[in-house]
Amino acid sequence: MKQIKRLIDNIGLLWTMSASNEENDVQLRCGAEAMREVGALTDAAIAIDENGVIVEIGKKKRVRDQIDVSTEVIDANQGFVCPGFVDPHTHLVHGGSREHELPLRLRGADYLDVLRAGGGIMSTVQMTRERSSRELYEQAKTSALRMRCYGVTTIEAKTGYGLTMEDESKQLSVAQALGMSTDIRLVHTALPAHAVPQNRKGDREQFIQELAQMYRVLHAQGAEFADVFVDEGAFSLEEGRYLLKMAKAIGMKLKIHADELVPLGGAELAAELGAVSADHLLAASNEGLFAMASAGVAAVCLPGTSFYLQKQPARARFMLDEAKLGVAVASDYNPGSSPSENFSLMMSLALLTLRMTPEEVFVAATRNAAVAVGRGSSAGVVRAGRPADLVLFEAPNPEYILTHYGTCHVSRVFVQGKDM
Ligand code: NIG
Ligand code: FE
Repeated sequence: MKQIKRLIDNIGLLWTMSASNEENDVQLRCGAEAMREVGALTDAAIAIDENGVIVEIGKKKRVRDQIDVSTEVIDANQGFVCPGFVDPHTHLVHGGSREHELPLRLRGADYLDVLRAGGGIMSTVQMTRERSSRELYEQAKTSALRMRCYGVTTIEAKTGYGLTMEDESKQLSVAQALGMSTDIRLVHTALPAHAVPQNRKGDREQFIQELAQMYRVLHAQGAEFADVFVDEGAFSLEEGRYLLKMAKAIGMKLKIHADELVPLGGAELAAELGAVSADHLLAASNEGLFAMASAGVAAVCLPGTSFYLQKQPARARFMLDEAKLGVAVASDYNPGSSPSENFSLMMSLALLTLRMTPEEVFVAATRNAAVAVGRGSSAGVVRAGRPADLVLFEAPNPEYILTHYGTCHVSRVFVQGKDM
């Protein structure tokens, strides 16, 4: 029998998000019924080996019997435990902040008006270009550690505030350094097609060719996913298709910022190209959402963004009840449309504004979020043989955590069996 290095004991309620008869590489849970299966276990304990891998999960009395004097016992105090959260959509690395935009928007300026006036994404591009790698690293590290406090153990991080080869590569290097120097797991996405700079509007075709080259170089540098902002004021459906097809051809997995502001057909494009996820989807058509479900594309909802931009939220109930999509929840953490690292708040907003049930919210923030970043075989569920990425709460149940909102209820966060 394997030696048990640590025992998380005295767990009041554990949601494993897994069923014992499943394959190791878990799939998206699709539709309301499947997304309410949380694999609940009461009075549980989790045994972890010296490599930080879970060796046993079960009733605490049974698991306790297997420890010896050298085992470190961690008392969960009858609290709630679940898999480490996966935030599947962030713009983690960027320079500066944009608090001055909110008063403009509250006085009636639209998100797109701000962007057209050279503010918005382009002002963050400016600040990101001006910052050294070290400065960007410090800012991103502060944010990533805040996210970890809320139980996030895996973060997807996009480029997209460089828009030149050199600056995009600098952003990716910073995210990679963060993945190396902290225990947080990073997933890297290239998003050079995030905005068209003013001085490139005249030679747009040439700029698109340069973007294609940026995806190639960023992929070679280690970006696993390619993403494009397909929307009014950003890239057209045709431009998105061209760039994503090229990215797919060189072996990148695909994501799309789809139908956030206007229904351009981004959801349909995600289905056509077999993207891993389509994100935002506030304005996605019924047909687009059904097509995504048929193609197995994860629908990543960003309730913090619709809340902060004061827009109608994504139609999560339609996605779950009618289209039977696999829904994930993300923060979209960025300085313009979702400046908050509070993942717990995002989950509460999923409950309150997307009208998801607590079970659906937790599946969307763990298992489905892991699949949405290609980590279905390593994150998002608690099961034997998997790394022990776990969140311990000082709350008795998940409903309490979501309804007692805006507050951090996390007591400890474990990544690969260790906390900091
Ligand atoms: O996902 N929609 C496009 N991009 C980001 C916003 C970026 C910004 O405003 O800086 C988003 O919301
Ligand atoms: Fe985004």
